[in-house]
Amino acid sequence: MNMKSKLPPSPPSIFSKMSALAKEHNAINLGQGFPDFDCDSRLKNLIKKYLDEGHNQYCPMAGTIELRTTIANKIKVCYDKTIDPEKEICITAGATQALNTAIQTFVQPDDEVIIIEPAYDSYRPSIEMAGGRVIAYRITAPDYTIDWDQFGELISERTAMIIINTPHNPTGTTLKETDLLALQTLIANKDIILLSDEVYEHLIYDQAHHQSVFRFPKLYQQSLATFSFGKTLHATGWKLGYIVGPPHLMEAYKNHHQWVIFSANSFVQRGIADYLQEPTTYQQLPEFFQKKRDYLTAGMSHTDFRPLNCNGTYFQLYDYSEVSDLGDLEFAEYMTKEMGVASIPLSPFYGEDPQDKVVRLCFAKSEEVLDKAIERLSRK
Ligand SMILES: Cc1ncc(COP(=O)(O)O)c(C=O)c1O
Repeated sequence: MNMKSKLPPSPPSIFSKMSALAKEHNAINLGQGFPDFDCDSRLKNLIKKYLDEGHNQYCPMAGTIELRTTIANKIKVCYDKTIDPEKEICITAGATQALNTAIQTFVQPDDEVIIIEPAYDSYRPSIEMAGGRVIAYRITAPDYTIDWDQFGELISERTAMIIINTPHNPTGTTLKETDLLALQTLIANKDIILLSDEVYEHLIYDQAHHQSVFRFPKLYQQSLATFSFGKTLHATGWKLGYIVGPPHLMEAYKNHHQWVIFSANSFVQRGIADYLQEPTTYQQLPEFFQKKRDYLTAGMSHTDFRPLNCNGTYFQLYDYSEVSDLGDLEFAEYMTKEMGVASIPLSPFYGEDPQDKVVRLCFAKSEEVLDKAIERLSRK
């Protein structure tokens, strides 16, 4: 038999590789990109209530209307944008499914999709599944800024989609108002969809405001924005998220979505809808995570690792060039085995290695765990 998969076989991801290495060498795992603390017990109790009350059958295809209405209210509170919960929101099995389904909906074979590298690892294979071609714009250390004139040169007749991510995994940088305005000008009056990955919308620091596509009415008409309850509620394992866009795009999106999962799980949606009625549940997140970022930065000042600018996500990049001359893959391995702390190297987030000497640490961890990691990395 000669059965062909649409994707070439891929090796285990860098996340699985570093976590296995951390386990083998008993290293503190700051590579793993999720919290080591639990979500709010009030939220868990709400979800248990709906489970026990028997909300265990299919809900509407786009998600419960209660959750969609809560999301529309949240968007109004955060971005002063009015969204129709019936026509502009769909609940998904995490942001990864939303991203993949959006790409399958709008990318035709041989279409080009521009991504910004380093990029979240699902973008490239999702585009390839659709038969599209990845066009990568590379941002590099130390600033990871975008030159929009150069970026514009990548746009062609075949460009169907552009994917952005702010706050940005893995660099911890954020796009500014001027970035979104430049992008709005570049794609105005073109048949290009902006897929805006905003899963870290509430993890933004130093009084910065998240530049959601919701703040740009003209750009929004060409956009689909994805979000993740995993990030907002410290519950990555629930795999629940949502996608928002204007009705003409969401109609096509939902036409695909119904054949992928039909609907996401029902009782968790009901619990989240109740929980998010109270805006402080998400408004306190910047302060909560900024404290952790600052705690790690203060501790790491006793090491030879140098922090790069981070004003979003729960990832902090460190320049290790005063510690070692090794390439980042070798260094991350050395750091795990010999220094006892696992990190994530950046080169796997690129098609072509820019050879920057930086690794990513996740600070969504308890102070006790951060202390242990800092102690191991400190100058002896
Ligand atoms: C940039 C980015 N987008 C999307 C996702 C996926 O979110 P979810 O777990 O809701 O699928 C992640 C998860 O790490 C991420 O970092």
